[in-house]
Amino acid sequence: MLDTWLTRELGITVPLVGAPMGGRAGGALAGEVTRAGGLGLIGAARYNTAEWLEAEARTAREIGGGLLGFGLMTWSLADDDSLLGAVLALRPRVVSLSFGDPAPYVRRVHDAGALAISQINTIDDLRIVEAAGVDAVVAQGHEAGGHTGRVGTLPLLQEVLESTSLPVLAAGGIASGRGLAAVLAAGAEGAFVGTALLASPETVGPAYAREKLIAAGSADTVYTDVFDKARHQPWPQRWGGRALANDFTATWHGRGADEQTIADAYTGDDPDIGVVYAGEAAGLVREQRPAGDVIRGIAAQAESLLSRFR
Ligand SMILES: Cc1cc2nc3c(=O)[nH]c(=O)nc-3n(C[C@H](O)[C@H](O)[C@H](O)COP(=O)(O)O)c2cc1C
Repeated sequence: MLDTWLTRELGITVPLVGAPMGGRAGGALAGEVTRAGGLGLIGAARYNTAEWLEAEARTAREIGGGLLGFGLMTWSLADDDSLLGAVLALRPRVVSLSFGDPAPYVRRVHDAGALAISQINTIDDLRIVEAAGVDAVVAQGHEAGGHTGRVGTLPLLQEVLESTSLPVLAAGGIASGRGLAAVLAAGAEGAFVGTALLASPETVGPAYAREKLIAAGSADTVYTDVFDKARHQPWPQRWGGRALANDFTATWHGRGADEQTIADAYTGDDPDIGVVYAGEAAGLVREQRPAGDVIRGIAAQAESLLSRFR
């Protein structure tokens, strides 16, 4: 068994966290990751309601047992933090507060009996979340799917490990036992996996998203803000989103068009236009596989690779 701070703290058997993925990771995916021995996080998007969260939490617990976790986008709580209240009412064990300063919220997370963790993209972010009192940090690299920063996973992970006494996890580009073994050997306590799970039948979202991901290679993603503009998502400028390149990005990425022009050209139900957020690990996702198999496979391969050094 791969024994780390993460597995001991949560009483789990695999040092893997199913990444919170707004619009893709609901209760079924999270529950299967937890049932396989990791911890699946439900991605809470700005538009989710308390009723939706409650239903997804019930599903996750039915499948995975009591252990529950959510991921929120910190910047989106500034105007209205009711989503955090709705999440905490469900008694999660872990709350991920990423993309922004979690200081106003960490105390509430702790008072509700949960661990607060934050994905970070720079050393300046590390200092901010340390000051906020989080329990662990996740070094999220540029190759990650969805919104992320501009430094690659390995340089960021090394720098963060050298710079903090907090437990550190890695995110971005980890989709096989080789990736997990690499970050554990470097000193990480575990990894977030997102893209690796996105061809699993338990994900939510359009069917074409799974098909496009399976067809894509590692060079077929683009780091862009065009889908935020297309969907009027007010993400702070420093975070772009990594998605599969498609006809829409070929036309609009880097063109400098205004938001309304981009939004007018967008139709999310067209498979050649709609956004499929995914990371460079897309090249490692070759078939539709149940999420539990993906998690067990990554863990078993990492364990076998790391046993070479015993
Ligand atoms: C479709 C998708 C949606 C995401 N949504 C969120 C989110 O709502 N909140 C968050 O903290 N991170 C989000 N992320 C980032 C993931 O939490 C994680 O950092 C990333 O998936 C790790 O990299 P990988 O995709 O290479 O495994 C998302 C990623 C993807 C692929």
